Amino acid sequence: MGEYHIIGGKRLMGEVRAGGSKNAVLPMFAATVLNGGKSVLHNCPIIQDTLTSIEILKHIGCTAEVHGNTVTIDSAPANSWHVPEEYTQMMRSSILFMGGLLGRFRRAEISFPGGCNLGSRPIDLHTKAMGAMQCSIQTSETLRCSADSLTGFTHHLDFPSVGATENIMLAAVLAEGETVIGNAAREPEIVDLARFLNGMGADVRGAGSGTIVIQGVEKLHDVEHRVMPDRIVGGTYLLAAAITGGEILLTETNPLDLIPATAKLAEMGCRVIESEDTIALKAPQRLKYLTKLETCPHPGFPTDLQAPFVAALCVADGTSVVEETVFNSRSGHIPELSRMGADVMVMQDGRNFVIRGVKTLHGANVQATDLRCGAALILAGLAAVGETVVTDGYHVERGYQDIVSDLRGIGAEIRHVSL
Ligand code: UD1
Repeated sequence: MGEYHIIGGKRLMGEVRAGGSKNAVLPMFAATVLNGGKSVLHNCPIIQDTLTSIEILKHIGCTAEVHGNTVTIDSAPANSWHVPEEYTQMMRSSILFMGGLLGRFRRAEISFPGGCNLGSRPIDLHTKAMGAMQCSIQTSETLRCSADSLTGFTHHLDFPSVGATENIMLAAVLAEGETVIGNAAREPEIVDLARFLNGMGADVRGAGSGTIVIQGVEKLHDVEHRVMPDRIVGGTYLLAAAITGGEILLTETNPLDLIPATAKLAEMGCRVIESEDTIALKAPQRLKYLTKLETCPHPGFPTDLQAPFVAALCVADGTSVVEETVFNSRSGHIPELSRMGADVMVMQDGRNFVIRGVKTLHGANVQATDLRCGAALILAGLAAVGETVVTDGYHVERGYQDIVSDLRGIGAEIRHVSL
């Protein structure tokens, strides 16, 4: 348990990097089960969800070593397909072990997952797909899947769910024959997962498009992979500069993955210059409002940056409208931002927010109710007059390896207090 203390009002300037992507590496951990050998992951963020994934892997019999940001997993000794509740409650993406374990052992037993509270988060798309793969599925408190053999299949997702797409990819890699995923998620993390799987000998094509084709192979081998940069952490740092009227250079990033965010930052009056792997941002004295910001599956605007953008729009000049279309309850940051003096109205559906920009926010004691809510409150604290304390900081630690030192490095006054 810990909290973040921020003294606002400093203009952030300098150079910062984002590190490896949480959402890319988590399915890769589940995928390490598949090859029955070694997987070396470089640029791996060492965050709570990474540690939980490593605990799960050790629980099922794998060995794991961490050296700096390199994690080496050996799944040869894995001998269990059971993921107990103590892990799944900590992290929703523990559900991805379903695909990894099914692929390797033809069975998986996983307690129902926890994770950020963003409204109802069913796993029906995952189970429907596994059912179509001829798995028998029992759901009570534990999800039990088993199959005598896994057979490739053609499946159309009702919604391009990131997790369901990843789970199908994992289960299909060692299945017999061809699997086709229609209406697949197109997120960059899916592309990185395909690269990782192909690196261990899988045959995955079309990742990044709406149709992914996986030709099952008989055997996989050892793999070494560098995890893609975290686009959500990168976007958070660009916003840290934007909200403080600052000027930063984000390094070791992929500007193409951040286009939905940088396009909006440009609309808000920021000067954005991209190179192959850097983004330079210079903010105006005061940000401009956005007529409409609507979250959508990739390549639309990412839901994970909704709360951080709302924080910035709270101090923008003019009235902005934000619509959350991916999750049905992702508004935990709004009452907390209001405690800092923000003027935000949540419409009755809970998904549309009208934000009237105020000139300044003031410091307050606020609570992180989920990971990106925590990031949004830290951003608001950077712009506020006086001291902001963000409690329940463990949410933030699930997704940001070094937010305090990264922000201090560009001039922020922020510290983490362990309780
Ligand atoms: C992943 C990301 C998360 C991001 C989200 C959307 C990881 C570890 N997490 O989460 O940071 O916010 O993508 O970009 O990569 N849904 C169903 N049934 C299902 C599965 C999903 O109805 O079986 C719904 C969800 O409730 C949600 C929407 O589909 O409303 C999107 O969920 P999904 O794309 O699956 O997100 P995650 O994979 O959980």
